[in-house]
Amino acid sequence: MKQPHSLFALPVVCLLVLTAACGRAHEKPIGEVVDQALASAAEQSLRMAAKYESDSLALPRSYADGQDVSSDSRWWCSGFFPGLLWYLYENDPRPELLAYARQYTARVEREKYNTHTHDLGFMLYCSFGNALRLTADTACREVLLTGARSLSSRYNPSIGLIRSWDHTNGGQWQYPVIIDNMMNLELLFWAARESGDASFRDIAVSHADHTMEHHFRPDFSTVHVVSYDTVTAMPHARQTHQGFADGSAWARGQAWGLYGYTVAYRETGDRRYLEQAVQIARFLLSHPNMPGDYIPYWDFNAPGIPGELRDASAGAIICSALIELSGYVDDVLSAQYLRVAEKQLRTLASPQYTAEPGANGDFILMHSVGHLPGGSEVDVPLTYADYYYVEALTRASRIPSLGGK
Ligand code: GLY
Repeated sequence: MKQPHSLFALPVVCLLVLTAACGRAHEKPIGEVVDQALASAAEQSLRMAAKYESDSLALPRSYADGQDVSSDSRWWCSGFFPGLLWYLYENDPRPELLAYARQYTARVEREKYNTHTHDLGFMLYCSFGNALRLTADTACREVLLTGARSLSSRYNPSIGLIRSWDHTNGGQWQYPVIIDNMMNLELLFWAARESGDASFRDIAVSHADHTMEHHFRPDFSTVHVVSYDTVTAMPHARQTHQGFADGSAWARGQAWGLYGYTVAYRETGDRRYLEQAVQIARFLLSHPNMPGDYIPYWDFNAPGIPGELRDASAGAIICSALIELSGYVDDVLSAQYLRVAEKQLRTLASPQYTAEPGANGDFILMHSVGHLPGGSEVDVPLTYADYYYVEALTRASRIPSLGGK
């Protein structure tokens, strides 16, 4: 009885293997996808840069209902467009990209004195950090060190964390810390190395350790906001602000955690942070609600999945983080992360997410979600989606299995 079954099965298996191989053979090589995506991102971003050139305070933020939305440097996203221009310049060192990168970076400088936000890493390290990396312009060093001191002023040693927001959500929070805050530690790690002042590093390590202890659930998903009791230094509230529910896994929050612990490992070599990043990646990549193209819904527990909105920004952040993390893990995990990143890049570079030239308010990617419960920036382009997408493309362009050199 076995023989006829096997004889029948063999051609079917061959046909399936051949069909899969042909499908892949028709796929454009990933290296070409990356190169073309970077080239069209540069053209789109040059249009954006020209649009705001004469408004010396403006930085692109989003595009909604057919209207451009910009901000001044105070908005937490002010560093992303300058940073994006630096990545584009790194890939294609054209004088106009350099001139715009410098011009838009200068617009963010005054934030170095801002002690009212934890977002100084986003604002200054994406802009001035990339400027310093690519031009060795020593003036950037002073801006970044001043910014690092401003950020450190928000650290309370008896709690062991940097305070994220000044407000208390109508008295509900004593000392709010959000998972996003992990992204601002890279500036402090840099400042410790650059200045020789270990206190910057101590603050970053303490913040990362306390966040690891109190933000994460047993499955390695993360809460958005943990508020600490200022007397006991212990959490008194675990809530969401931009996610679906206090107990849910808001997609961008998970992405910030993955990226943040990957950086913390790179900067310290502490394997606890590597393990944390690997566990967060496992949570994300094995989640039953993670779509096959790995661009997540805006919240993994959003009640209407599969009818819920995707968040391209979370997809781009996860993609960039996975490419970096692939360099720190064993071959099997590394190959898995790069397969996922390739899928994400192909999806984001497709017309499903990449806008037509000159459309989408001159942003590169469509379909991100800023703050859905607040009814703000829902299914729109967002400057940080573009930043982390171009960072991921840049990283991919150096990875041989992603077509890089
Ligand atoms: N840091 C704010 C956000 O991720 O929306």
